[in-house]
Amino acid sequence: MKKDILTLLDLEKEDFERLFKRSRELKARHRKGIYDRSLEGKTLGLLFEKQSTRTRLSLEAAVIQLGGVSVFISAKDTQLDRDEPIKDTARVLSRFVDGLAIRTFSHTVVEEFAEYSTIPIINALTDRYHPCQILSDILTIIECKGRYSELKIAWVGDGNNVAHSWINAASVLGLDLFLACPDGYMPDEKITEKARDKGCGKISITSDPFEAASEADVIYTDVWASMGQESEQTERKKVFEPFRVNSQLIKKASKDVIVMHCLPAHRGEEISEDVLEGPNSVVWDQSENKLHMHKAILEILMGKGKTAEV
Ligand code: CP
Ligand code: NVA
Repeated sequence: MKKDILTLLDLEKEDFERLFKRSRELKARHRKGIYDRSLEGKTLGLLFEKQSTRTRLSLEAAVIQLGGVSVFISAKDTQLDRDEPIKDTARVLSRFVDGLAIRTFSHTVVEEFAEYSTIPIINALTDRYHPCQILSDILTIIECKGRYSELKIAWVGDGNNVAHSWINAASVLGLDLFLACPDGYMPDEKITEKARDKGCGKISITSDPFEAASEADVIYTDVWASMGQESEQTERKKVFEPFRVNSQLIKKASKDVIVMHCLPAHRGEEISEDVLEGPNSVVWDQSENKLHMHKAILEILMGKGKTAEV
């Protein structure tokens, strides 16, 4: 049976652990210049409707370094842009490639692709979730802190797609997640309630960034206006001004706090230049880990001789 990763709720704790273990092995092998051929003969399609630097390149590099090939498809250059139904496109692409990573606006698009495809569908970001980002981010936390549990993880900023995936991860792994978002920009209550109902982990929400940052081991932020919200940029800049991750905020955190950002960053908006470039920032390692985590994901979902167990 094929397996999709549309949200982190598609994974059990054991699946996360398996991905962390394998991505660390693959990273160590990469450092030594050793590449497995686990995706030899396999083709990954990437169907993107929004811009991407890291996710696209790390997925393409991952598949190529493991012996496979990637095909990038800009959605606007396909017949989808001329109203060919998703259910038809999904069945056709399933005949050509062995897996499909999709970056799009509405989350229902990836759900519909998953329903009609016979190949694994990987959510490479929707307006609602960014699951693979958080998998590689937790890998970075493990590398920096040796664990992901018993750490205060603070989210400071918009209650957006990345925040939603953090909430999902918290409910599967039992994380202590403290989110600070302005009123009116909180995460979707349905997502938070569902996560809290699982009874695993602690999800706290405040509108005070200093409360979230206090004694935090990890401070994470993201853009104030996500892709598709460009028209709200001016208004959002005013509302989010007190939510900037700057040196004043990180002084409240644990002295070994790591500062994370999925990037692209807007210096002087959600994060100050000195913090982004400062000693607590791990953003470049965080970015690199997308490559290693994507390799682990692709191997498990579409690797040679593997059944998709995740
Ligand atoms: N973090 C992330 O997803 O970056 P891109 O938008 O460049 O892929
Ligand atoms: N929240 C951001 C993440 C970019 C990687 C966006 O959706 O634009």
